[in-house]
Parts: sequence; C-alpha cells; structure tokens
Amino acid sequence: MSVHSEIKRVTTHSLQKMKQTGEKISMITAYDYAFSGIFDEAGIDVILVGDSASNTMMGYETTLPITLDQMIFMAGSVVRGAKRAFVVCDLPFGSYQGDSKEALKSSIRIMKESGAHAVKLEGGKEICESITRIVSSGIPVMGHLGLTPQSIYKFGTYTVRAKEDAEAEELIRNAHMVQEAGAFALVLEKIPASLGKRVSEELEIPVIGIGAGMHVDGQVLVMHDLLGITKDFSPRFLRRYANLRDDIRTAAANYIADVRSKDFPNEKEQY
Ligand code: KIV
Repeated sequence: MSVHSEIKRVTTHSLQKMKQTGEKISMITAYDYAFSGIFDEAGIDVILVGDSASNTMMGYETTLPITLDQMIFMAGSVVRGAKRAFVVCDLPFGSYQGDSKEALKSSIRIMKESGAHAVKLEGGKEICESITRIVSSGIPVMGHLGLTPQSIYKFGTYTVRAKEDAEAEELIRNAHMVQEAGAFALVLEKIPASLGKRVSEELEIPVIGIGAGMHVDGQVLVMHDLLGITKDFSPRFLRRYANLRDDIRTAAANYIADVRSKDFPNEKEQY
C-alpha cells in the first residue's frame, strides 16, 4: 500500500459534517502542481482552481478571457499535487451560460480531463437548471453569489455587494435556490458580514466566504493575495501571511549579482 492511499480525501460529506460540528473549512486557490502540493501538505481542506487564474497567472484585467481548455490544463496539475484536499474547478465564462446542456458538457470535460472533484459556477436562479443537471450526472457543484467577477461589466465595479435590503433579500432567495438545485456548498464574495451570517444560518450546506465576514462556515483566499505576490491589491478582507513578491525579487537579484560577480558557482558547486 502506498503512503498516499492511506491519506483520507476530503469529500462533500466531510465538508457537510464540518458545517454540522462547527469546524471551519479552509479553502485556497492554486493553479499548478507545486503550490497545490504545498497547500495540501499544510492541511488545506479545499483547493479551488479559480478562474482568478486569468488575473493572477495570465495577467488579464478580468476573469473573462480564460478558456475551458486552460482551466482543464491547470486543474490537472493541481489534482496531481493534492493528495488530501478536495479540488474544485471553476467553469470559466462562456462555458456554461448558454444552457444546461452546455454546462453539463463543460463540467464533464473538467471531470474527465483534469480529475477535479467538483465544479463551481457563478450565479443564482438563472443557473439553477444547470446545477440540477450537472448534479444529476454525479458531479458535485459549488455555487458562487455576491460579487461575481464574470459579471463585472454588468455591475461596473468590484465594490461590496448587497448592502441594500432589496439586493440582500434577492441574494438570500438565490442562495436557497442554489441549495435546492443541489449545490453541496456556496461561495459568498464581498458582502456585509451580517448577510454572510444570515445565509450560513439559513442554509444547510457549507457557506464559504471571501470578504463575507467571520460567521460563515469557511474562508477562501486567492493564493497570490495571501502570499503577498499580488501588487497593489489590499482590500479590507485580505490578510497577508507572507511577502513573497519581495522575497522572490531579493532572491533573484542576489542570484543575478552572484552570477555577474562570478561568485556562483564556486568550487563546491561544480563537478
Ligand atoms: O476564481 C476565484 O479565485 C474565485 C474565488 C475568489 C472564490 O472564485
């Protein structure tokens, strides 16, 4: 028996149990094998192959340009690095909005070609038929409400969502619909903490927040943000746990200087 087969994989059932027992769920994005392996070793519960890769990995301004093929490529690498974590892959913009058949087809491609364990879709009632169809085929679905970056041109800004009562009530209705459609969990992005609290109290499925306050069932952050790789991005909800941008730049500058000064390689570093 290999060491890896002894590691118990996180599942939709264990996540549900965590909600019931009040154990908080930790989730982080990753887009490649190396970081996925590091986060997995650290004990992360869920790794999200987010379409935020469009910004963090590819340098686009929004999440809209990334394609299904590119998501599948990244998700496959992440899956190979994760021995315990549950891996969720975003359905990118344009791969599910057409109709529920297209949503199912894209989800099946992700599951078959990358080995991911679930897919995530943005939206409420307009995608519930798709959620039900995907779940009926045996694929777990995570929902995403609040700030939904794939709709950025509809909303025009990345500011906090659902501050007004009417929008908050609509979000609550959509959250219930996403749950009824069969989603196993829901991401809430950038909404007031009081609303995050209400949604997680009302829903039976785990609610995972990013900028949704302390009362939700778990937290997710984008790896480049929490590791301090992202430049000029400091929303209130973000806690930085490292300053890798400076550390990596310093390491690279030291290496360059050593090569130029002929300090590297030395006698011991050659054959
Ligand atoms: O794409 C992403 O990284 C996400 C998180 C912000 C939840 O959807």
